[in-house]
Amino acid sequence: MKFITSNEGKFREAKELAEMFSIEIEWLRMEYEEPQALELEEIARKSAEILSEKIKEPFFIEDSGLFIEALNGFPGPYSSYVFKTIGNEGIIKLMAGIKNRKAYFKAIVAYFDGSKIKTFDGIVHGEIALEIRGRKGFGFDPIFLYGDRTFAEMGEEKNLVSHRRKALEKFFTSIKVRQH
Ligand code: IMP
Repeated sequence: MKFITSNEGKFREAKELAEMFSIEIEWLRMEYEEPQALELEEIARKSAEILSEKIKEPFFIEDSGLFIEALNGFPGPYSSYVFKTIGNEGIIKLMAGIKNRKAYFKAIVAYFDGSKIKTFDGIVHGEIALEIRGRKGFGFDPIFLYGDRTFAEMGEEKNLVSHRRKALEKFFTSIKVRQH
């Protein structure tokens, strides 16, 4: 089964977890067009549908986003665009003076099994930090507080609790159940 993503970090994280489930995954390094929609689930499902017209064998993709409660779920499905435009500094500015800092990351895995598409979700709750902490890490990691550390400060430990981990775990578990 192939994991279609242009992000090497995402592939490595999935590969490691897949090994724990004795599932073989291969990296299909590729960028693809994401249709616009208000729900991540719909974006992932539609992207997988479009890809399945070309790729006839089993594959999965993963789509994620950051949802900030006080901003009514912004940037949500626009996370990648918002990260590229205003970035972590921009979010910190938008959140200046706001007391409710609750936020969550959500990931959707969309799996094409050769005939139909299934989705699996994962959520991790946290808070938007008051400042950027820990320079390393992917995307909004340096401003997402999980307990008293940001995801960027947690290093590899992040991968044990992340939204992506939870969605992938549900997905790999469902494959195993079907094999038995
Ligand atoms: P993608 O389209 O699934 O790659 O993710 C959309 C955007 O959400 C990315 O560009 C990141 O800015 C953000 N994002 C998704 N997952 C994470 C994460 O684990 N840490 C930090 N930012 C993330």
